[in-house]
Amino acid sequence: TPMLVLWGVIGYLLGSIPFGMVLARVMNLGDLRQVGSGNIGATNVLRTGNKAAAALTVLLDGAKGAVAVLLARLLAGEDAAQVAALTAFLGHCFPVWLKFRGGKGVATFLGLMLALAWPVGIACCATWLFAAVATRISSLAAIYSAALSTIWVVLLGYKEMLILGAILTLLIFARHWQNILRIRKGAEPKIGES
Ligand code: G3P
Repeated sequence: TPMLVLWGVIGYLLGSIPFGMVLARVMNLGDLRQVGSGNIGATNVLRTGNKAAAALTVLLDGAKGAVAVLLARLLAGEDAAQVAALTAFLGHCFPVWLKFRGGKGVATFLGLMLALAWPVGIACCATWLFAAVATRISSLAAIYSAALSTIWVVLLGYKEMLILGAILTLLIFARHWQNILRIRKGAEPKIGES
Protein backbone atom coordinates (compact mmCIF):
# COMPACT_ATOMS: atom_id res chain seq x y z
CA THR A 1 0.00 0.00 0.00
CA PRO A 2 2.76 2.61 0.65
CA MET A 3 3.81 1.84 -2.94
CA LEU A 4 0.31 2.64 -4.23
CA VAL A 5 0.23 5.89 -2.26
CA LEU A 6 3.62 6.83 -3.68
CA TRP A 7 2.43 6.21 -7.26
CA GLY A 8 -0.75 8.07 -6.49
CA VAL A 9 1.30 11.11 -5.53
CA ILE A 10 3.62 10.80 -8.55
CA GLY A 11 0.60 10.42 -10.85
CA TYR A 12 -1.02 13.50 -9.33
CA LEU A 13 2.14 15.60 -9.69
CA LEU A 14 2.59 14.60 -13.34
CA GLY A 15 -1.08 15.16 -14.11
CA SER A 16 -1.11 18.55 -12.43
CA ILE A 17 1.35 20.10 -14.91
CA PRO A 18 -0.98 22.43 -16.85
CA PHE A 19 0.70 22.28 -20.24
CA GLY A 20 -1.93 24.43 -21.97
CA MET A 21 -1.39 27.20 -19.42
CA VAL A 22 2.39 26.88 -19.62
CA LEU A 23 2.44 26.93 -23.44
CA ALA A 24 0.03 29.86 -23.63
CA ARG A 25 2.31 31.83 -21.33
CA VAL A 26 5.59 30.81 -23.00
CA MET A 27 4.20 31.43 -26.50
CA ASN A 28 2.57 34.73 -25.47
CA LEU A 29 -0.98 33.72 -26.35
CA GLY A 30 -2.56 35.66 -23.51
CA ASP A 31 -4.46 34.48 -20.45
CA LEU A 32 -6.45 31.31 -21.23
CA ARG A 33 -8.87 32.22 -18.44
CA GLN A 34 -9.95 35.23 -20.52
CA VAL A 35 -10.32 33.20 -23.73
CA GLY A 36 -13.41 31.22 -24.82
CA SER A 37 -14.48 28.77 -22.11
CA GLY A 38 -11.66 29.87 -19.80
CA ASN A 39 -10.42 26.27 -19.73
CA ILE A 40 -6.76 25.27 -19.77
CA GLY A 41 -7.10 22.48 -22.36
CA ALA A 42 -6.16 22.17 -26.01
CA THR A 43 -9.66 23.05 -27.24
CA ASN A 44 -9.39 26.42 -25.58
CA VAL A 45 -5.75 26.93 -26.58
CA LEU A 46 -6.98 26.55 -30.18
CA ARG A 47 -9.32 29.50 -29.57
CA THR A 48 -6.25 31.72 -29.26
CA GLY A 49 -5.73 30.92 -32.95
CA ASN A 50 -2.46 29.06 -32.45
CA LYS A 51 -2.86 25.55 -33.91
CA ALA A 52 0.67 24.44 -33.05
CA ALA A 53 0.17 25.36 -29.41
CA ALA A 54 -3.14 23.49 -29.36
CA ALA A 55 -1.56 20.39 -30.93
CA LEU A 56 1.31 20.50 -28.44
CA THR A 57 -1.17 20.85 -25.59
CA VAL A 58 -3.08 17.67 -26.55
CA LEU A 59 0.19 15.80 -27.01
CA LEU A 60 1.72 16.88 -23.71
CA ASP A 61 -1.48 16.62 -21.63
CA GLY A 62 -1.93 13.16 -23.15
CA ALA A 63 1.70 12.19 -22.65
CA LYS A 64 1.68 13.03 -18.94
CA GLY A 65 -1.16 10.54 -18.43
CA ALA A 66 0.66 7.91 -20.45
CA VAL A 67 3.96 8.51 -18.68
CA ALA A 68 2.32 8.21 -15.25
CA VAL A 69 0.83 4.84 -16.20
CA LEU A 70 3.93 3.44 -17.92
CA LEU A 71 6.31 4.49 -15.14
CA ALA A 72 4.06 3.08 -12.42
CA ARG A 73 3.58 -0.17 -14.31
CA LEU A 74 7.30 -0.57 -14.99
CA LEU A 75 8.38 0.12 -11.43
CA ALA A 76 5.45 -1.13 -9.35
CA GLY A 77 3.00 -3.17 -11.42
CA GLU A 78 -0.55 -3.03 -12.71
CA ASP A 79 -2.35 -1.82 -9.57
CA ALA A 80 0.06 1.09 -9.27
CA ALA A 81 -0.55 1.86 -12.97
CA GLN A 82 -4.30 2.12 -12.35
CA VAL A 83 -3.80 4.32 -9.28
CA ALA A 84 -1.40 6.59 -11.20
CA ALA A 85 -3.91 6.78 -14.07
CA LEU A 86 -6.66 7.98 -11.74
CA THR A 87 -4.48 10.47 -9.87
CA ALA A 88 -2.93 11.85 -13.08
CA PHE A 89 -6.45 12.55 -14.29
CA LEU A 90 -7.36 14.16 -10.94
CA GLY A 91 -4.12 16.16 -11.03
CA HIS A 92 -5.08 17.62 -14.39
CA CYS A 93 -8.59 18.50 -13.23
CA PHE A 94 -7.60 19.75 -9.77
CA PRO A 95 -3.99 21.01 -9.78
CA VAL A 96 -2.74 22.61 -6.54
CA TRP A 97 -0.78 25.11 -8.63
CA LEU A 98 -3.99 26.60 -10.03
CA LYS A 99 -5.92 26.58 -6.74
CA PHE A 100 -7.47 23.27 -7.89
CA ARG A 101 -9.10 24.95 -10.91
CA GLY A 102 -7.77 22.72 -13.67
CA GLY A 103 -8.99 21.22 -16.91
CA LYS A 104 -11.57 18.71 -18.09
CA GLY A 105 -9.19 15.79 -18.50
CA VAL A 106 -9.96 14.67 -22.03
CA ALA A 107 -6.43 14.58 -23.49
CA THR A 108 -5.09 13.09 -20.26
CA PHE A 109 -7.84 10.46 -20.32
CA LEU A 110 -6.95 9.46 -23.88
CA GLY A 111 -3.24 9.31 -23.06
CA LEU A 112 -3.67 7.20 -19.97
CA MET A 113 -6.10 4.85 -21.73
CA LEU A 114 -3.58 4.33 -24.54
CA ALA A 115 -0.95 3.40 -21.96
CA LEU A 116 -3.25 1.27 -19.82
CA ALA A 117 -4.74 -0.78 -22.66
CA TRP A 118 -3.77 0.43 -26.13
CA PRO A 119 -6.70 -1.20 -27.99
CA VAL A 120 -9.12 0.61 -25.67
CA GLY A 121 -7.10 3.81 -26.02
CA ILE A 122 -7.19 3.63 -29.81
CA ALA A 123 -10.95 2.95 -29.72
CA CYS A 124 -11.47 5.98 -27.43
CA CYS A 125 -9.32 8.22 -29.68
CA ALA A 126 -11.17 6.96 -32.76
CA THR A 127 -14.52 7.62 -31.07
CA TRP A 128 -13.41 11.16 -30.20
CA LEU A 129 -12.18 11.78 -33.76
CA PHE A 130 -15.28 10.34 -35.40
CA ALA A 131 -17.59 12.38 -33.15
CA ALA A 132 -15.46 15.50 -33.62
CA VAL A 133 -15.63 15.19 -37.41
CA ALA A 134 -19.37 14.49 -37.26
CA THR A 135 -20.37 17.24 -34.80
CA ARG A 136 -17.45 19.74 -34.95
CA ILE A 137 -17.91 20.16 -31.18
CA SER A 138 -14.95 19.19 -28.99
CA SER A 139 -16.86 18.78 -25.73
CA LEU A 140 -19.51 16.60 -27.42
CA ALA A 141 -16.77 14.42 -28.89
CA ALA A 142 -15.31 14.08 -25.38
CA ILE A 143 -18.69 13.07 -23.98
CA TYR A 144 -19.18 10.42 -26.70
CA SER A 145 -15.66 9.13 -26.20
CA ALA A 146 -16.06 8.87 -22.42
CA ALA A 147 -19.52 7.30 -22.67
CA LEU A 148 -18.45 4.66 -25.18
CA SER A 149 -15.17 3.90 -23.39
CA THR A 150 -16.95 1.52 -21.01
CA ILE A 151 -18.31 -0.42 -23.97
CA TRP A 152 -14.83 -0.67 -25.51
CA VAL A 153 -13.38 -1.83 -22.18
CA VAL A 154 -15.87 -4.70 -22.06
CA LEU A 155 -15.84 -5.60 -25.77
CA LEU A 156 -12.06 -5.59 -26.00
CA GLY A 157 -11.70 -7.73 -22.89
CA TYR A 158 -10.24 -5.42 -20.24
CA LYS A 159 -12.74 -6.03 -17.44
CA GLU A 160 -10.03 -5.35 -14.85
CA MET A 161 -10.25 -1.66 -15.82
CA LEU A 162 -14.02 -1.47 -15.70
CA ILE A 163 -14.27 0.38 -12.38
CA LEU A 164 -11.48 2.81 -13.19
CA GLY A 165 -13.02 3.42 -16.62
CA ALA A 166 -16.45 4.05 -15.11
CA ILE A 167 -15.03 6.52 -12.56
CA LEU A 168 -13.15 8.42 -15.30
CA THR A 169 -16.27 8.49 -17.48
CA LEU A 170 -18.35 9.97 -14.67
CA LEU A 171 -15.63 12.53 -13.88
CA ILE A 172 -15.46 13.60 -17.54
CA PHE A 173 -19.23 14.05 -17.58
CA ALA A 174 -19.08 16.06 -14.36
CA ARG A 175 -16.26 18.27 -15.69
CA HIS A 176 -18.32 19.07 -18.80
CA TRP A 177 -21.56 20.17 -17.12
CA GLN A 178 -21.28 23.73 -18.41
CA ASN A 179 -20.57 22.40 -21.90
CA ILE A 180 -23.60 20.09 -21.64
CA LEU A 181 -25.83 23.06 -20.73
CA ARG A 182 -24.46 25.00 -23.73
CA ILE A 183 -24.94 22.01 -26.05
CA ARG A 184 -28.57 21.73 -24.94
CA LYS A 185 -29.10 25.43 -25.69
CA GLY A 186 -27.38 25.04 -29.05
CA ALA A 187 -24.81 27.56 -27.85
CA GLU A 188 -21.67 25.41 -27.77
CA PRO A 189 -19.06 26.72 -30.24
CA LYS A 190 -17.60 24.53 -32.97
CA ILE A 191 -13.94 23.54 -32.85
CA GLY A 192 -11.72 26.57 -33.45
CA GLU A 193 -14.55 29.04 -32.79
CA SER A 194 -15.43 30.93 -29.61
O1 G3P B 1 -11.23 18.94 -23.57
C1 G3P B 1 -12.09 19.88 -23.15
C2 G3P B 1 -13.17 19.97 -24.18
O2 G3P B 1 -13.92 18.79 -24.15
C3 G3P B 1 -14.02 21.16 -23.98
O3 G3P B 1 -13.21 22.31 -23.87
O4 G3P B 1 -12.78 24.71 -23.82
O5 G3P B 1 -14.74 23.82 -25.11
O6 G3P B 1 -14.78 23.77 -22.63
P1 G3P B 1 -13.91 23.73 -23.83
